[in-house]
Amino acid sequence: MSAIAREAGALLMQYFHQHLKIEYKGDADLVTAADRASEVLIRERIGALWPGHDVLGEEQGLSDRGSEYRWYVDPLDGTTNFAHGYPVFCVSMGLERRTAGEPGRRIAGVVYDPTRDELFSAELGLGARLNGELIHVSKTGSVKESLLATGFPSQKRHKNPNIHFYHQITLHSHGVRRAGSAALDLCNVACGRYDGFWEFNLNPWDTAAGVLIAEEAGGLVTRFDGSGFEIDSRETLASNGVIHEALLKEFADIFAGRGLEGLADPRVYER
Ligand code: IPD
Ligand code: CA
Ligand code: CA
Repeated sequence: MSAIAREAGALLMQYFHQHLKIEYKGDADLVTAADRASEVLIRERIGALWPGHDVLGEEQGLSDRGSEYRWYVDPLDGTTNFAHGYPVFCVSMGLERRTAGEPGRRIAGVVYDPTRDELFSAELGLGARLNGELIHVSKTGSVKESLLATGFPSQKRHKNPNIHFYHQITLHSHGVRRAGSAALDLCNVACGRYDGFWEFNLNPWDTAAGVLIAEEAGGLVTRFDGSGFEIDSRETLASNGVIHEALLKEFADIFAGRGLEGLADPRVYER
C-alpha cells in the first residue's frame, strides 16, 4: 500500500508543477486531470496485486467484485489547494474487511503527503507510523490549551452549520486550522500536531485511512454525540482521547444553542 501511495504521490507532484485546467463538479467542487490519473494508477496497482478486491474511489465510484475486502481511495485529497498551487494535499488509501453480518473493520491505511515526503501508515492492532517511526497522539489535557482543525465542504455549502462550531471552538481553544485536506488533518491528530479535528459530511474515501491511523496512534474517533464512528458516518470527531469528553460537551452546547458567543458586527467595527 505504501509503495502505491508513494507512486501516486510522485505522479501528483509532476502535475503540481504544471498549470492544470480546473474543471467543476459543482459550483466550487473542483477536479483536475491529476485526480483522475492518480486514481487510474492506484486502481491498476491494486488490480494487479489483489484482482478480486472491491475498490471505491472518489472519481470512478465502486467496482464491486463481491469481495470481503474493500479499498477506499481518495487519489487526491485537497484538490482545491492543489489546483491553486497551495502545497497541502495527499493520497489516501484505506482497506476494510467485511465479514458477513458484521460491520466492516478498517484493517490498514496509508496517507502520503508528497510535498513533505511524509507517509502515515497503520495496521489494525499494530500502531501507527510516520515514515516508519511509531507515532502517538498528543497529551494536551484541555480544549483551552489545544490546537484543533476542521474543514468546510465544497458542496451544499449553505446547508453546513460548521461556521458556528468554528467560531465557538476558536474562542475556547488556541485556534482552529482549516488546511483543506481531511485525510491529512486526521494524520496530524495522530502524530500530535493537532489535538483534535472535526468535520461534517466527509465521505468514506476521506476518512477510511486517517481514522484508523488516528485510532492506532491512541486517538479516539466518534460521531458528534459520542457514538461510534462508522465508515458512512456523516460526522467525524477525532481527538487525542483526553479532551474528547470536553469536545463532545462543546458540540452538545452548540447544537442546543447554549452559550453561543455573538459575532462581532462589521458595521459597528466600520463606524
Ligand atoms: C476535501 C478535503 C477538504 C474537506 C472537504 C473534502 P477533496 O476533499 O478533504 O479538506 O474540507 O470536505 O471534500 O475534494 O479535496 O478530495
Ligand atoms: Ca477528499
Ligand atoms: Ca479527492
